[in-house]
Amino acid sequence: MVDQRVRLPDMRTDVAQVLITEEQIRDKVAELGGQITSDYAATSVTLVSVLKGSLPFMADLMRAIQIPVTIDLMEVSSYGGATTETSGLVRILKDLSSSIAGKDVLIVEDIIDTGLTLNYLLRYLRGKNPRSLRICALLDKPARRLVEIPIDYRGFQIPDEFVVGYGLDFGEYYRNLPFIGVLRRELYETT
Ligand code: PRP
Repeated sequence: MVDQRVRLPDMRTDVAQVLITEEQIRDKVAELGGQITSDYAATSVTLVSVLKGSLPFMADLMRAIQIPVTIDLMEVSSYGGATTETSGLVRILKDLSSSIAGKDVLIVEDIIDTGLTLNYLLRYLRGKNPRSLRICALLDKPARRLVEIPIDYRGFQIPDEFVVGYGLDFGEYYRNLPFIGVLRRELYETT
């Protein structure tokens, strides 16, 4: 039974503009994978994906890295459901499965916005005594930064627009778009 009160997204028309195409993402992921491969060539790296947003990026990036990797998954949440504003309160919904003590760890994120999520995660993961801890973020939105975050591998710097697709959601939808697009403003200004 369909709940008539809920507006389901229209995947074709809700995006005002494609900001980053599938091809641009593919090229950037290959470039980042190459850098990571050469930087960690003498060792191996543990990729820690920050779900849910980083899921497609993680899946593509790990296959663009040509050295042995292990992976782990964390899920954190800082945004409420259908909102474009961070609550500032970071919650761990799923913790690491294995110890990272003594390991070279690379956090894989889809976007750094205010920086509050990563600021929290960096402190949390440093407390688990990895040998090294770096950050790989596909998108960097510096206009909204509240805390400075050292980004070791950056995909794209983007303007202060609300973006969806390739893992990024609005109200949990649009994550499956293969590109990154700007959501039509009226969709979130009215909610
Ligand atoms: C998004 C994104 C980052 C965080 C960035 O996650 O995946 O983790 O927000 O924002 P910040 O720099 O302002 O902290 P979200 O909490 O929306 O969860 P999700 O990945 O499950 O969509």
